[in-house]
Amino acid sequence: MKTIVTTLLVSALASSTLFGANATINALKVADDLSTISYASALWNKATFAPVVLYPQTTIRMNDKTANELNADNPAKKAMVAAVYNDHSIAFMIRWPDATINVQKGERTTSYADGFAVQFASHFSDPNALPYIGMGSEGRPVVVYLQKVAKDIYEPNGNGDVALQVNRNQTDLFGKALQAFDDEVASLGNSDYERSFISEGFRSMTEIKDGSNNSNARIRYMKRNKGWEGTLTRALRDEYVNLDAPVIPVAFAVWDGEKMGRDGLKHLSAWVAVTLQGKSGGEALIHALEGTLVGDPKAGERAIAANGCVGCHQITSKDAPNLMGPSLVNIGGYSTAGYLKESLLKPSAVIVPGYNRNAHPAYPWYTLNNGKRVSSMTDFSWLDEKTQNDIVAYLQTLKAEVK
Ligand code: HEC
Repeated sequence: MKTIVTTLLVSALASSTLFGANATINALKVADDLSTISYASALWNKATFAPVVLYPQTTIRMNDKTANELNADNPAKKAMVAAVYNDHSIAFMIRWPDATINVQKGERTTSYADGFAVQFASHFSDPNALPYIGMGSEGRPVVVYLQKVAKDIYEPNGNGDVALQVNRNQTDLFGKALQAFDDEVASLGNSDYERSFISEGFRSMTEIKDGSNNSNARIRYMKRNKGWEGTLTRALRDEYVNLDAPVIPVAFAVWDGEKMGRDGLKHLSAWVAVTLQGKSGGEALIHALEGTLVGDPKAGERAIAANGCVGCHQITSKDAPNLMGPSLVNIGGYSTAGYLKESLLKPSAVIVPGYNRNAHPAYPWYTLNNGKRVSSMTDFSWLDEKTQNDIVAYLQTLKAEVK
C-alpha cells in the first residue's frame, strides 16, 4: 500500500500535464512471452503504475429508480494502470478500489457483477477525431474487452456467499465425481464471463467470436487492498486495430455490481495516452489527450448561462435532470478538449449513443435524415473562438472528485 501512495505522489509531481489530464502510461518493452502473463508475473514489479481517474458515466439516466438512487453523487475512482509489450502482444494491469465483491450469478437478471473493460480506438491517426469514449460511435469503431467477475466456483446456497465458495482445485474429486461437480457448476451458469466486441455505439456491438483477436483477461480480488486487479493481454496488431505505434489511446472502465452497475452505468476514464517504450513520435496525440487548458473557465461558465445550454443539459448536480440531452455533470472527466470543441461546433459528428427511445420517447436526441443521424443540438460554431475555448475550459472542470 505504501508503495502505491508513493507512486501516486511522484507521478503527480513529475507530471507536467495541466489540470484535468491523466498521466501518460509508459508501456515497458520486454522480451518475455506475454500470452500467458498472469497477475503473479514479476514483470508487473518492473512496470510503472500510473494513476488513471475513472468518472461516473452520467450521460443517461437509467430507467431504474433504485439504480439512480444508489448512484446519485458517485465520487470518481482512482485506478493504477501499468502496461508491458513485446513484438507480438501488449498487456495491461489495472487495480481499482471496490470494497465489495459482486459475482455474476448465472442468468439471474437482478444480479450485477463487478468487472472491467479496456477499450482501444480502431483509428487514431487524427487525434481530434477519436471514437466516442463510451463504446465508440458511427464510423468511429472501438475494440472493447470486457471481463466480469463470474468464477467457476460452487457456492451451495446460491446467495453469492464468498465464504462458502469452492473451486474445483479445493475439492478432492476426480474422474466422474469431478465431472459431476463441473456439470453442476456449469448448470449454475457461473462460467467465465470474458467478451470482446467491435463496437460503433451500444446499438452496434458485434461480439468477436472467431478467436482472431487472441486475447485473455483475468480478474482477482485483493483483500488486503480492498480492490480488484485485472489483466488483459491482446495482440499488438490484428485485423481490428494496430497498436504498433509510438503512442496509442486506451480507455478503461469499471463496474460496481453492488451499485447495480451495468451497460453505461459505470466508471469511465478519458482516452489515456500509452507510450510504447523505445518508439518515438506521437506528440500530437499526447498533446490532444492531455487536454491543455486554453480558455478561461469562469468566462465559459457565463457563456454557457448566456447560451441556454441548461435548456437541454443538466450541467451541474444543482440543475434538475434534463432528458433533452445528455447530462454534462461528469463530461470533463471522460472527454478530451478536442471532443468537447467538436461537440460544440459539429454536434452531428458524434451522436452520443445513450439516447433511450423507450424511456424518453418525447425527447429524441437526433433525427434521421436519409439514414444519417442529425443531432437535435444547435450548432455553436458561430460563437467567436475565445468564447468556444472558454466554454470547453469550463466543461473540462465538470467532474466528480476522487474520494
Ligand atoms: C436543443 C437542445 C440542446 C442545446 C440548447 C444544447 N445541446 Fe448539447 N446536446 C444536445 C443533445 C440532444 C446532445 C446529444 C446528441 C449529440 O451527440 O449531439 C448534445 C450533446 C452535447 C455534448 C456531448 C455530450 C456527451 O455526453 O458526450 C456536449 C459537450 C454538449 N452537448 C454541450 C452543449 C453546450 C456547451 C451547449 C450550450 C452552448 C449545448 N450543448 C446546447 C442538445 C442540446
